[in-house]
Amino acid sequence: MISEHPSLSDRVLSGTRGAGIRPFLERHASDFAFYGSGKVALRDGLAGLVAPGENVLVPAYLPDAVVEPFHDLGLEPRYYRVRERLAPDRADLDRRLDDETAAVLTVDYFGFPQPGLEAVAALCDDYDCYHVDDNAHAPLSVDDGTLLGTRGHLGITCLRKLLPIPDGAILYCNDESVVERFEPSSFAGVRDGFGVDDCRYVLESFVGTLLETNATVRRAAERALATRSVSVPDPKTRYEAGKAPMSKLSATVVDAVDPTAIRNARRTNYRAWRRLFDARPGIESYFESLPEGICPQGFPLRTRAPQRLLAELERCGVAAHTWPRLPATVSDDPAYAVARKLARETVVLPVHQGIDPAAIEAVGDRLRWRPPATSRPVPR
Ligand SMILES: Cc1ncc(COP(=O)(O)O)c(C=O)c1O
Repeated sequence: MISEHPSLSDRVLSGTRGAGIRPFLERHASDFAFYGSGKVALRDGLAGLVAPGENVLVPAYLPDAVVEPFHDLGLEPRYYRVRERLAPDRADLDRRLDDETAAVLTVDYFGFPQPGLEAVAALCDDYDCYHVDDNAHAPLSVDDGTLLGTRGHLGITCLRKLLPIPDGAILYCNDESVVERFEPSSFAGVRDGFGVDDCRYVLESFVGTLLETNATVRRAAERALATRSVSVPDPKTRYEAGKAPMSKLSATVVDAVDPTAIRNARRTNYRAWRRLFDARPGIESYFESLPEGICPQGFPLRTRAPQRLLAELERCGVAAHTWPRLPATVSDDPAYAVARKLARETVVLPVHQGIDPAAIEAVGDRLRWRPPATSRPVPR
C-alpha cells in the first residue's frame, strides 16, 4: 500500500534523530509563531490589520473552509479567477479589488511557488493592501533562497501536511507593520502537556500502519466498516475545531525530524511518479521541472478521466485523491469555469517520506491505463 499520509512508524522518523525544523525556520523566517491550524493562524495574523466590512481576495481554486477565518473577522471573501497553470487571472483580480480590499491571498499550490506572484505584489502596493502568502502545502519549500510563505506581508504553512502529526501550522509575520500589530490569541503557541487526543493519534497511526502492511487484517477491517458512511463536518465546524494551540505531540515530532532527509525523500518520490506518468498519454503533470529547494506536497497531475485513474490507482494500492473540495460559491458559478475544471481533473499522488521509491516503480508495472478518447493537451 502507498498511503496518503506519512506514519509515526516510518523509517525517516525511526532512524537517527534530526535537529528538528526550528533551526531551519530560524534560518529562513524573521518572525513566526506556531498554531494548531493554518486557518486560525490566518485569523490571528490578519486580526490586527483589518476592520469588519472590508474584503479579502482569494483564488477560486481553494478548499471550502479557507475563507472561514475571514468570516470570523467580519470580512467578505471574494474569489478571483485563476488560470489553467494556477497563476492568478490578473484582469479579474484587478476588477474585484476596491478601496475596501484589506488583503489579497495567493497560494503556493502543491509546494511550488505560485506563478504571477510579482504581479499580485505590485497590485497590493497600488491598492495599499496586504499580501498573504498561503504556503499551507509545503513547509520546507524554498524557492531561489526564499522560504515559501515568507514572501507576502504575512504568510502561513501547515506542518500537518508534511509530518505524521495531529495538527500544526505556522504564521509568518514578514513585514514590520504586521509584526507591530500582531497580538497572538490564546490559540497561538504549543500546549503544555500531552492530552488524550495525542494518545488517540499515536494509536491510530500505528493501527493504520498495521492495516497497510497486513492484507488479512485490512480486509477484515474493510468488511467491518463497509456499511459506515463517513461524513465531513461543515467548513465552520472544521475551522472552529482548529482553535487550539499546537499539540505537544506535534511539537515533539517537529523537534525530532530531519528536514533535509524529508525534502530529499519527497523529491525522490516526486521524480519516481514523474517518470512513471511521463510517457502515458492523457496525463499532464502540472510542473515542468522540480527546481532545487522545492519540497513537493504531492505529485499533482491532470487528466480528463480522473475517476478512472483513481480507481486504477486504488487497484494498485495507491491512495490518491482529487483536490480540492470547492466552496459552493465557486462550484455553482460558471464564471469560475477554470477553477471548477481544475478541481475535477486534478489528481494528487502521495510523495511523502514514508514511501519507498521502489514501491512507486512497482506501481508502474501494474498500472493499466487507457487514455480518455479526447486527450487534448492542457493549455499552458
Ligand atoms: C491552500 C490552503 N490554505 C489553507 C489551508 C488551511 O490549513 P489548516 O487545515 O491547517 O487550517 C489549507 C488546508 O487544506 C489549504 O489547502
